[in-house]
Amino acid sequence: MPVAIPSRQAGGVPIVAVTRWLPPPAVDPLVAAGLEVRYRAVDEPPSVDELASHVAGADAVLALLTERIDERILDAAGPQLAVVANMAVGYDNIDVHACAARGVIVTNTPDVLTEATADLTWALLLAAARRLGEGERLVRAGGWDGWRPGQLLGMGLEGKTLGVLGMGKIGSAVARRALGFGMHVTYHNRTESPRAAALGARYASFEELVAGCDVLVVTAPLSEATRHLLDAGALKRMKPGSILVNTSRGPLVDEAALVEALRSGHLRAAGLDVYEREPALAEGLAELDNVVLAPHLGSATDEARAAMVELACGNIVEVLAGRAPLTPVAPA
Ligand code: DGY
Repeated sequence: MPVAIPSRQAGGVPIVAVTRWLPPPAVDPLVAAGLEVRYRAVDEPPSVDELASHVAGADAVLALLTERIDERILDAAGPQLAVVANMAVGYDNIDVHACAARGVIVTNTPDVLTEATADLTWALLLAAARRLGEGERLVRAGGWDGWRPGQLLGMGLEGKTLGVLGMGKIGSAVARRALGFGMHVTYHNRTESPRAAALGARYASFEELVAGCDVLVVTAPLSEATRHLLDAGALKRMKPGSILVNTSRGPLVDEAALVEALRSGHLRAAGLDVYEREPALAEGLAELDNVVLAPHLGSATDEARAAMVELACGNIVEVLAGRAPLTPVAPA
């Protein structure tokens, strides 16, 4: 049943610019709400020029993490723009201060991808700890000549310490899974988290966390304060033989320094879903055997992606109907 949405533009139905192809239900919720949808149904990110002309005159933009929504794009959209709905929980691709200065609401898609991202974090953690990538490559290449007692020995997890950098919803879901593996959990956040306390996780300073855990999982959002938080120095201070897993945003880790830490053997292994300059990789990373590389799959399940689309569309429908957004983000 279409929702009655007051037109924001003289004599017209509000326009929603959708920047690229979406999985089901795609733009159906926007169409069902009676909005005019300008759908760029192409499964590639637009160039900046293409994006600028696509959003011109739109009342709402549904963006993905591959699009940078900055002053130029906001200017190109025009003063009628009311909302930018990012179809991701992270929103470092959006200049939230520029949006706030123009009165443009920004929304993201938290909660609906928490469990999927925590699962993928654990997939990488287990693959890195148990050397699954190396094993898979060996078998596939026909190089496996039978069971050996010392072949591809990994790290056992029971009794080890998991460090969570960024104990938000995803970090907590990762920590909850750790309890089933018999791990101890420590974490670092800007402030102590009641959610973490309920899981029996111990708060640690950043330095304590980095130096004290056997597996460090990065689930903190990217901001100017967290960019290169794991730089060469911090990686050196990690426990020798420990494992790093990053499913947040690549720029939290100095990727070139990580290559060195893995190459020298200071770190036993890493599992990465995100990269500093996606889809490019730091030189030497792909040649290392002790890193498991995934192509930014954190929320990539049918269920999570459908829910993300629904939520991004829902945010637009609410704002254009003059109601409060479902999941707004506040500028830091
Ligand atoms: C996010 O939501 O921020 C992920 O990186 C993509 O799903």
